[in-house]
Amino acid sequence: MVTGASSGIGAATVRRFAELGWQTVAVARRADRLQALAAETGAYPLVCDVTDEEQVSRLAAEVAHTGGATGLVNNAGGAIGTESVERSSNEDWRRMFEVNVLGLRSVTAALLPVLREGARRTGWASILNLTSTAGHDVYPGGAGYNAAKFAAHAVTGVLRLELAGEPIRVMELAPGLVHTEEFTLNRLRGDAAAAAKPYLDVTPLTAEEVARVLVGAFEQPPHVNQDLIVLRPVAQSSVFHTHRGPLAPRAE
Ligand SMILES: NC(=O)c1ccc[n+]([C@@H]2O[C@H](COP(=O)([O-])OP(=O)(O)OC[C@H]3O[C@@H](n4cnc5c(N)ncnc54)[C@H](OP(=O)(O)O)[C@@H]3O)[C@@H](O)[C@H]2O)c1
Repeated sequence: MVTGASSGIGAATVRRFAELGWQTVAVARRADRLQALAAETGAYPLVCDVTDEEQVSRLAAEVAHTGGATGLVNNAGGAIGTESVERSSNEDWRRMFEVNVLGLRSVTAALLPVLREGARRTGWASILNLTSTAGHDVYPGGAGYNAAKFAAHAVTGVLRLELAGEPIRVMELAPGLVHTEEFTLNRLRGDAAAAAKPYLDVTPLTAEEVARVLVGAFEQPPHVNQDLIVLRPVAQSSVFHTHRGPLAPRAE
């Protein structure tokens, strides 16, 4: 089951799983996009707002009754705003926490019994949480998103400890700059010109490249737990250092 499957990394992940013969459940709020993805990949589309606990319970029940699940990708998430701590609003922070942290918790809690059932049937189950390099390094203007993704990182670590002894691996994928159509546009409240800037004169990761690595973690032998995968474009050596322009070997 992949949350946030209606665009970007989530949709690319469903496509990659489908290419390798996995049956997926694609979850997001926008039904039309899920239907199109389902028609293309054979995924089972389920509309759910992961910040609504009742909808999440119904989602888990439907997954349980339509074949169960052995894997969960908590990908639904995003950033809102780039204002400083001083100028940002609790309203934006609340929305970021709702989707990146509380949504991840509710979906994980609701799916765990289904995943255990899957593990009884097949021997194993897997959970992978999409955090970000913003969940490991802070930067000015990032506070709300940093705080939410640091929290998602922490929850991932706690979950791994709490599930010790069960055949359920808990993994984290933390990408750097990925060019998806909506992430920065949403972060910058629909300002398309500003949203294009981070991707100028640099080759960012694509959603497909992230999906390949993500699905690769599920394709490992099931006792192999890739605790933390950090993935950046070569041009971005840290959250602070993005090389713009061509990359070239240095003169000796
Ligand atoms: N792009 C980057 O540079 C980057 C870098 C590092 C990490 N990440 C993380 O990777 C994940 C995917 O990012 P992306 O770039 O693919 O972003 P995206 O294209 O904006 O996709 C976000 C997805 O989450 C879904 N979503 C948002 N709120 C939801 C909710 N309340 N309930 C259910 N689904 C919800 C959206 O679908 P609906 O609107 O249809 O619900 C959409 O499918 C996010 O967690 C993001 O923080 C992104």
